[in-house]
Amino acid sequence: MEIGCGSGYVITSLAIMLRQLGSGTQYLATDINQHAVETTQGTLEAHGVHADVIATDIVSGLEKHLHGLVDVVVVNPPYVPTPEEEIECKGIASSWAGGLNGRQVIDRILPAVHELLSERGWLYMITLEDNDPLDICHLMNEKGYASRVLLKRCTEEESLYVLKFWHEATAGTNSSHAAKSPRSESSWLSQLPFRSLWHKNA
Ligand SMILES: C[S@@+](CC[C@H](N)C(=O)[O-])C[C@H]1O[C@@H](n2cnc3c(N)ncnc32)[C@H](O)[C@@H]1O
Repeated sequence: MEIGCGSGYVITSLAIMLRQLGSGTQYLATDINQHAVETTQGTLEAHGVHADVIATDIVSGLEKHLHGLVDVVVVNPPYVPTPEEEIECKGIASSWAGGLNGRQVIDRILPAVHELLSERGWLYMITLEDNDPLDICHLMNEKGYASRVLLKRCTEEESLYVLKFWHEATAGTNSSHAAKSPRSESSWLSQLPFRSLWHKNA
């Protein structure tokens, strides 16, 4: 699942990269902006992959259906610190406007994802240094998640982090799973070109 799919590039890339897993994988994407929803549908179609794309606020309306069922959530949220009013603006401002410390939307996404993630689920989220990633990790830790910074990239304007979260209960088993589990990060997922995608677009 991708929350805030925008152009659809991320969910489309994910569906293409994971195509090798076969037909059992279902993809979902949400965005509050109807134009983004339509654009994502076009991007998916153009690449011959499918996801259900839903116009909604974060995951509103999906919580009951998907409670504890989602294995992977990816989010590149609107994280730019802005005046609060900017969040309410319709249209393109919603792609960046994050309110105070850029955390206003992020802080609503975290509990929503907590409701949806399966026991073995992973959340990948991009944050800015200004969003206080350490505080985000602490908040998630209080909900029972371990976390890790997967990547850090600095430009002249931004310091970006890719954070990964998973249920702490499964953290202790990570190393023993690593060799065996097909979902282990050290097995198939590490073979996927996440890093090169990042580099191409950095
Ligand atoms: C930084 S853009 C990321 C776009 C795309 N995922 C990417 O990485 O290129 C953030 C996206 O989140 C969407 N968004 C903002 N607030 C949202 C909300 N409350 N619920 C769902 N989507 C939201 C915006 O419309 C925008 O498409």
